[in-house]
Amino acid sequence: MTLLVTGGAGFIGSNFVLDWFKTSDEPIVNLDALTYAGNLANLASLAGDGRHLFVKGDIGDRALVDSLLATHQPRAILHFAAESHVDRSIHGPGEFMRTNVQGTFTLLEATRAWWGGLGPEAKAGFRFHHVSTDEVYGSLAPDAPAFTETHAYAPNSPYSASKAASDHLVRAWHHTYGLPVVTTNCSNNYGPYHFPEKLIPLMIVNALAGKPLPIYGDGQQVRDWLFVGDHCSAIRAVLAGGRLGETYNVGGWNEKANVEIVHTVCALLDELRPSAAGPYTRLITHVTDRPGHDRRYAIDARKIEAELGWRPAETFETGIRKTVQWYLDHADWVADVQSGAYRAWVDKQYG
Ligand code: NAD
Ligand code: DAU
Repeated sequence: MTLLVTGGAGFIGSNFVLDWFKTSDEPIVNLDALTYAGNLANLASLAGDGRHLFVKGDIGDRALVDSLLATHQPRAILHFAAESHVDRSIHGPGEFMRTNVQGTFTLLEATRAWWGGLGPEAKAGFRFHHVSTDEVYGSLAPDAPAFTETHAYAPNSPYSASKAASDHLVRAWHHTYGLPVVTTNCSNNYGPYHFPEKLIPLMIVNALAGKPLPIYGDGQQVRDWLFVGDHCSAIRAVLAGGRLGETYNVGGWNEKANVEIVHTVCALLDELRPSAAGPYTRLITHVTDRPGHDRRYAIDARKIEAELGWRPAETFETGIRKTVQWYLDHADWVADVQSGAYRAWVDKQYG
């Protein structure tokens, strides 16, 4: 038995791989193109571990995917690989269409061709698990009920439109060809190995460097935040027991405005690594808003709880403390990812 993971050197994918081996010896073949967001240092603790086979390659490379499927005969594919940052999608949507839409299409077609040749038992047991986002549902009014799985799709950014397109492809490959798929739509993750272009790690690394903490617009945009380890446990639960063709929303029951998140990060840093210059909130700066910025996301995660008994284990208070402490303990990892390419991105986005 083997799993094929795509994007397993990224933030969530690498957390998933590391978590998997805490409770299972089932091997993982990890296909990742190592874009700016992919980082083998996340998987350094698996060096020499025969359960993990890393393959540097693109999900859009049909010949490579064909050969991995034929060689390793996975019982499931966990599809994390994507371009994932909304601001980058605004500057340059092309890569998002290439990986998230065309890449998912290629992966589905390769899977369909290989899966079609399996015997009845292997065919029935196979799973294609598509890892998606709550952003496909668009923006909620302040008092609107949280997103359920039947909420209409209304993506507003090039990123969320590309993820919505990939969700539709996955759905269609089940409906038309009978491919055994499940999809999870999750809210904002945070935790170890989060690339410091996203809100929480950016605020931690900027604060420690004494740099401005850039809040877009009024900072009253609301997100639901989930510790990454809880996303991993949700994926394991859906892989094990999710019903074929179904989608499951995954969230932390933890809606917070961006300003509140930034104040919480500052307060933890004041406690754990006080600055001689004064409270970290002195660095907060309001900057031009993100174009098309979604005002609020909220996840109704009752379906996954009712069907599969999944609930997050971390509260926001425990998860954010662990996260801030992880960044304090991993200054080398932070320094390594802040390469020339990272600095070029920060200059482009924040001036
Ligand atoms: P990430 O950007 O940190 O990692 C993406 C990984 O995919 C990287 O390792 C990258 O090298 C790899 N990759 C990119 N293009 C590739 C290609 N063409 N072929 C092979 N590998 C490629 O992303 P993440 O935050 O870990 O997100 C993982 C998945 O979870 C994505 O599908 C994303 O849409 C989804 N998601 C993310 C969040 C979140 O808060 N980060 C929430 C919900 C869903
Ligand atoms: O909701 C799930 C999504 O969460 C995932 O699908 C995406 O892959 C992931 O990147 C994340 O998207 P967001 O756009 O919500 O995450 P980000 O960390 O970029 O921003 C969170 C909020 O903080 C958002 O309202 C924008 C705001 N923000 C972000 C940055 C980077 C700021 O105010 N300042 C910033 O510098």
